[in-house]
Amino acid sequence: MSGASTSHSSASPEPSWFPNSVWEPAPGNSVSRPARDGKRSFPEARSQTEFGNEGRCSPWRLAAWALLLLAAAGCRQQMAKQPRYNSMSESPFWGDNRSARPLEAGTVARGHLRNPAVLFEGIEGTRWWNTRVATRFPFQVTETELKRGQELFNIRCAVCHDRVGHGQGKVVQRGYVQPPSYHLEPVRSQPVGHYFRVITHGWGAMPSLAEEVPDVVDRWSIVAYVRALQASQDESFLKSLVDKEQGR
Ligand code: HEC
Repeated sequence: MSGASTSHSSASPEPSWFPNSVWEPAPGNSVSRPARDGKRSFPEARSQTEFGNEGRCSPWRLAAWALLLLAAAGCRQQMAKQPRYNSMSESPFWGDNRSARPLEAGTVARGHLRNPAVLFEGIEGTRWWNTRVATRFPFQVTETELKRGQELFNIRCAVCHDRVGHGQGKVVQRGYVQPPSYHLEPVRSQPVGHYFRVITHGWGAMPSLAEEVPDVVDRWSIVAYVRALQASQDESFLKSLVDKEQGR
């Protein structure tokens, strides 16, 4: 390095922007440029060596990187080029010249056959003018479903509705909106499909539990258990349910 405090390229034949060596402070580099007025010594202004070639990239290095990138972009494996059809393109292979084949008759996307509606949506009727919330269970409820419903109810619903359904679950005791008791007439008189739909889609302040209870039969089992809870608090209610809602 020549004279630490001399001004850089003033006497040099190179263009003014080009540093004489990597050690030479680069012009315009505020970190390493010595004070122009010469009052501050160069080491005080922090030398180039301390920071390396910080903030600068030589044009040669840039060019080298660009070349490398270009070369790398040119690489391609044979597997990338395979015979294929673009969507909706023509094909002489089939008689109708279509590469996209029509679905086989009766094809159903997996998990998309949501039929019968009463099982999946809790609604009865097959046409828009006669659909209504289901008033009966889509299947005969047995002890197995009730047990399953009890298990799921205590896991999923009791936190808010409590285990008997009075709406005093732990979450509610700590400040969540209090649900109405299942044993109140306005709730009790709802058809079973309504309960199914409340679980599936949520209801007012209650979130949907469709993801927590993905199986629709499980949801119906919970509904059956809610009915059992209601019956447990009122025997006459039980009698009124059995012939009204059971089976199809
Ligand atoms: C996070 C708390 C929470 C959970 C969990 C929860 N509920 Fe609710 N539920 C509520 C609240 C709050 C209401 C009152 C909603 C309103 O009226 O705005 C409610 C209302 C209801 C109603 C009454 C709907 C009506 O017609 O007024 C039923 C039935 C019900 N829930 C069933 C269930 C079942 C079954 C489960 C479990 C699968 C469940 N809930 C899980 C909070 C919850």
